[in-house]
Amino acid sequence: MSQLLVRRSHRVQPHRPYQVFSLPDDQEYDYDPANPDPIAHINFSQDIDLLLIVPATANIIAKFANGVADDFLSSTYLASTAPVMIAPAMNTTMWEQPATQRNIQRLKADGVHFVEPVAGELACKTVGTGKLEDVENIVSQALKVLSEKTKKVIKENIEAGRNGDFALKNDLSGERLLITVGGTREAIDPVRFISNHSSGKMGFAVAEAARDRGAEVTVVCGVTAVEPPNGVAVINAVSAREMFDAVMKELANATVFVGAAAVADYAPTNAADAKIKKENQDKLILELKKTPDILSEVSKRRKKGQLVIGFAAETNEVVTYAKIKMGKKDLDMVIANDITKEGAGFNTDTNIATILTRVGSEIELPLMSKRALADRILDEILKIRAA
Ligand code: PMT
Repeated sequence: MSQLLVRRSHRVQPHRPYQVFSLPDDQEYDYDPANPDPIAHINFSQDIDLLLIVPATANIIAKFANGVADDFLSSTYLASTAPVMIAPAMNTTMWEQPATQRNIQRLKADGVHFVEPVAGELACKTVGTGKLEDVENIVSQALKVLSEKTKKVIKENIEAGRNGDFALKNDLSGERLLITVGGTREAIDPVRFISNHSSGKMGFAVAEAARDRGAEVTVVCGVTAVEPPNGVAVINAVSAREMFDAVMKELANATVFVGAAAVADYAPTNAADAKIKKENQDKLILELKKTPDILSEVSKRRKKGQLVIGFAAETNEVVTYAKIKMGKKDLDMVIANDITKEGAGFNTDTNIATILTRVGSEIELPLMSKRALADRILDEILKIRAA
């Protein structure tokens, strides 16, 4: 039997946010005279985020249900306050026994989570219910429990009036962020294009911070001056149309969409196939057409529970225009940056922003690094979730 203790490990490996310890199979481990730590079950149990039993036998389920603590695992269970998840696997008759089912009901009433076994061919070569659920499904349910636990802590913090330090490690575990980053390029001909000054630093800062806090992150990148952070999925899209198509393809998988890209609002109606010659042309008149509005379309297609967040790059009446954008595009949050201010906006490592939310909060922030701003944005996402 393998029993797993799951502990946050942000500092150890940012892309693998949880350390997983396999408990020894040796039932006598705790009490073995050679063991240098005679109270290992206490020491192990104090610092874990999830006790996951995969696969769990009828025997260990019975011990947990009845408070028996005669080996390392059952002692660890009794000594821990962490959430517990059990994925049983056993012979069908053992599974269906009233005693087993009674024990399971008792543990469920105690708050233990179960990933029920499925039907299939069992180790004893019979066919029936008792086969361990697919491992991927167990992992995803375990991540859900971990994220619920984090939300609970945040809610308790809010209720207790502790407004600071929401940046718990792995507090975004279970979230999948889709972020547009950088500027788009709209071709005039094979040589020339229309674009803007976006470096990608702001969008990548959000991606990096979300990754470090346990989220799965996909960035749809236009043209950027810096490299994407490690540990995030990268999709390249040069023009607004390409970015639109890439976002719509990925959207169903996202729980949060962040539009940090500076998408060109207009593109040449007909890009020339060959280089436009300047000979005998003192003037060149370009006809432009509106590009598709990615953020508005995401908002229209949003699924229940999906958060849609935009940025607003403004030069005057910053908050007023940002509020109008939030309403028009039906956003949960907008980050307004005044790109005329020193240290804010395009291609800087810092930004000055006001975070506005649908429910009316207005958080005016001082000059700070784009990474610090990214963490503030993520804190606000968690507050929305907790509410
Ligand atoms: O990349 P950096 O150099 O770090 O600079 C950061 C930034 C200034 C680019 C960033 O902080 C920012 O403000 N990004 C949004 C820029 C912008 O295009 O703002 P907007 O007010 O024009 O658009 C509003 C929102 O709609 C944005 O979320 C934008 O991504 C989105 N949009 C706009 C047009 C369009 N066709 N599709 C969109 O999705």
